[in-house]
Amino acid sequence: MSFDLVIFGGTGDLAWRKLLPALFQAFRHGSLPVGGRIVGVGRDTLTDEEYRANIKARFDAVEPSKRPNSEEFDRFSANLFYLRMDLSKPEYYLSLAEMLNARNADTVVMYVATAPGLFTTVCEQIAAAGLNGPKTRVVLEKPLGHDLASNRAINETVRRVLTENQVFRIDHYLGKPSVQNLFALRFGNSLFEPLWRREHIANIQITIAEDLGVESRGAFYENTGALRDMVQNHALQLLCAIGMEPPINAHADAIRDEKLKVLRALKPWTAETLQNHVVRGQYSAGTINGQAVPGYKQETGVSAESQTETFVALRCEIANWRWAGVPFYIRTGKRLGARDASIVINFRPAPHAIYQSPAGAANRLVINLQPKDGLELHLYSQGANQRAPAGSKSTQSLAPVQLDLDFDKRFGTERVGAYERLLLDVLAGRLNLFVRSDEQECAWRWVEPILDAWKADTQGPRPYAAGSWGPSASSAMIAKDNFCWAEEN
Ligand code: BG6
Repeated sequence: MSFDLVIFGGTGDLAWRKLLPALFQAFRHGSLPVGGRIVGVGRDTLTDEEYRANIKARFDAVEPSKRPNSEEFDRFSANLFYLRMDLSKPEYYLSLAEMLNARNADTVVMYVATAPGLFTTVCEQIAAAGLNGPKTRVVLEKPLGHDLASNRAINETVRRVLTENQVFRIDHYLGKPSVQNLFALRFGNSLFEPLWRREHIANIQITIAEDLGVESRGAFYENTGALRDMVQNHALQLLCAIGMEPPINAHADAIRDEKLKVLRALKPWTAETLQNHVVRGQYSAGTINGQAVPGYKQETGVSAESQTETFVALRCEIANWRWAGVPFYIRTGKRLGARDASIVINFRPAPHAIYQSPAGAANRLVINLQPKDGLELHLYSQGANQRAPAGSKSTQSLAPVQLDLDFDKRFGTERVGAYERLLLDVLAGRLNLFVRSDEQECAWRWVEPILDAWKADTQGPRPYAAGSWGPSASSAMIAKDNFCWAEEN
């Protein structure tokens, strides 16, 4: 299969850090279809050779095992080209069309990795230049909009010029091997399915914690915040993967229909739940891994009066027969105690205690997404404590034990990375791991009341020290249900 992959934003951060290294990995492992051409598009005036040299220099920052040697780089970059374009001017799209039509590849992928403000212009201009034919696929990076209205506006333009099956909306969490394993756990195994419901599950906790701050992205983050950056997309996609019904098959629409039902079933916000079930925070100076780090307001590009949240904790419910009444807690933040993304399923305690302790023993399944990738099943056993003291009438105590499955040990850490997987899926036309417009709109509709409530709230986000697990209000929120976050146990 011959393909042309055009990267709008070909000299941008995403291209350097994620897309080109991922394409190189696919090339190195022989999974990038042969006969492909990659065209980086940018505003600078560069020759192909200069573009390749820039990429080569950037690859030096990639971890050594993923870095090409010079022979590999020469072979990889023989298919790399550069095109200068001013994305606001139609004539440049005509030159692009000329370049693409001359080759007439089987598949043309347009990866729009530009500032979000350019998405609609690029889509409209692609169409105006006649480049939206059936062999074209368009990849749109997040954030797709700033709120429901802007998301709809983008999707409406996209729908005018492309069919839904031509549009690949990226949520890179769906490409992570650990998230693939989550789907496999649920829909490739029958063991947990009978337990995966309100009768057996007390609560579910989804955590995406980062120890990094906003780094060089302060200006972007100021207008985004954790709710838009992480909850509206990554966290809600994880919630869907946990909460959805088994799809009838593995086709894209079967999966996306089920995810959409979860989003539709999320309990709408009320004044009371907005008040009691949402916590926003912002990091202040603190210590991470023994290093003093500045607060968010001191980061480059951030206003000293900033009210942008770098932490969100929420309690939500999926109002359907499977999940009615089960709290789902979502928590994400920057500069937290550790980099840790995990989903904790807390099962209900044993209904009747015949052992002395622990009272109300409850099992727990932990799905580790990163940096560890694996499963932990927390159980209770008699352990070494088998002899009751002489004369004791009491029943014995149990000790916690753990079954631990480490996918990195089992399969190695060299598994296909998220962007590599997603790029290969785009080239193959597989839509399973991409987000449909109705899912995206539904997620925006659900988070919008939170954004509105924050606009009206003069208190602003609660401070938390970098290196902690967020504001204490996050623990207080969950404590109202008599639960606690996994690390507080
Ligand atoms: C991105 C967010 O979508 O995901 C970033 O914009 C965040 O702010 C990143 O750091 C986290 O991704 P990962 O794969 O490192 O967990």
